[in-house]
Amino acid sequence: MRDGIFGAAKARAMDLLVRYGEALGAEWLVETNNVAGAFNASTPSVRALAARGFDAVYSELNLDSDEVVEVPRMAVNTCQLITGIDNAKWRTQGIPDDLAEQQKRGEAFFGRRGIAMHATCTPYQVGNVPVKGEHCAWMESSAVVYCNAVLGARTNTEGKESTGAAALTGRIPDWGLHRDANRRGTHLVEVGVQVDDMMNWGLLGYWLGEIVQDEIPVLTGALANPSLIKLKHFGAAAASSGGVEMYHLPGTTPEARSVEEALGGRAASETLRYSEAERRRAYANLNCARERKIDFVMLGCPHNSIDQVWLVASLLEGRRVAAGTALWVHTPRALRDTAERNGYVHMIEDAGGVVMSDTCPAISRHLPKGVRTVATDSAKQAHYLPAITGVEAWFGSVRDCIEAAISGTWNGSLETERSDG
Ligand code: F3S
Repeated sequence: MRDGIFGAAKARAMDLLVRYGEALGAEWLVETNNVAGAFNASTPSVRALAARGFDAVYSELNLDSDEVVEVPRMAVNTCQLITGIDNAKWRTQGIPDDLAEQQKRGEAFFGRRGIAMHATCTPYQVGNVPVKGEHCAWMESSAVVYCNAVLGARTNTEGKESTGAAALTGRIPDWGLHRDANRRGTHLVEVGVQVDDMMNWGLLGYWLGEIVQDEIPVLTGALANPSLIKLKHFGAAAASSGGVEMYHLPGTTPEARSVEEALGGRAASETLRYSEAERRRAYANLNCARERKIDFVMLGCPHNSIDQVWLVASLLEGRRVAAGTALWVHTPRALRDTAERNGYVHMIEDAGGVVMSDTCPAISRHLPKGVRTVATDSAKQAHYLPAITGVEAWFGSVRDCIEAAISGTWNGSLETERSDG
């Protein structure tokens, strides 16, 4: 492949993978049939490149190639992760028309070449669900940890270039989490305070990531009702305060029928305890804002499930978002369509909220104009938005955030009613 028997694009891709694998110390490439990457062109910095055509975009950004090669159809199942632009609501985001057009032209080009335009950080919510043990090449930290821990499929946190090369070759270096030995637990975590709702799963993840960084925790104790919604929040939080790419919940996640299996027969290098003091510290660390007047409420990080969209809609029913406060609810495009058919989008819009897809404020770096203080139900978004955009952030339950949207004021608390599912 590297010698060009299958064409110039695959030769560039294989050359990149061999160099990448050598840098990592990998001895082999493994076969993959599942790639989730970032291919489209939605940032201002790509304008000049996109003007030369999307072969040039892919060559430079996804293959690290100065030579422009013609991009063939992807060799394996490949999807587009979240983008910077909502294809329908870009003006609400404050995105110039020409950039939105550029993204659409890019999608048409890459879509015809086999990249499924899921445009979400949660491809596993819209049909991309690899099976246990399947080798994948995924970007996006919240998706990677879900893929490894919850689905039992195997991926490292890849980049634009390695996913671009994997999509054309169906190969990725065999190292890190592709190998059994690197998937065993390292830290034992005893949870001594009830973790049952979405907010508390998020707090636990945020505390945990900061402590274990990129190690592999095995959690036991008072963990109740794990679900897609809660585990996507938990993993996203742990992957933002730290670099958690894998964890085990014995009895729940697929590579941990027991604590012993999760640890791979070894002793944990450290035992940690999560109790009320740790829970309070995580909440305090996420709530550093001073201003209680809320300009913007952001929900849906990682992108909301249909149940979460319903929860938001039901909490808004018959009410109105405060003047001077914006409410954006983010969900994958495919689920937005479902929410539209179910009447949920109408309920949210009726109350003055906006349902967005394809993007999020942390990725797009576009918030409503003049925002200084944000409220969110996402530990990840509360972590990144102040650092990326300079706003202050409050973190709390969905209920707290909706109340903030209605009143324009933050009154959330750690003791909020536990009814977020
Ligand atoms: Fe997804 Fe954006 Fe959050 S990419 S995980 S909604 S920061």
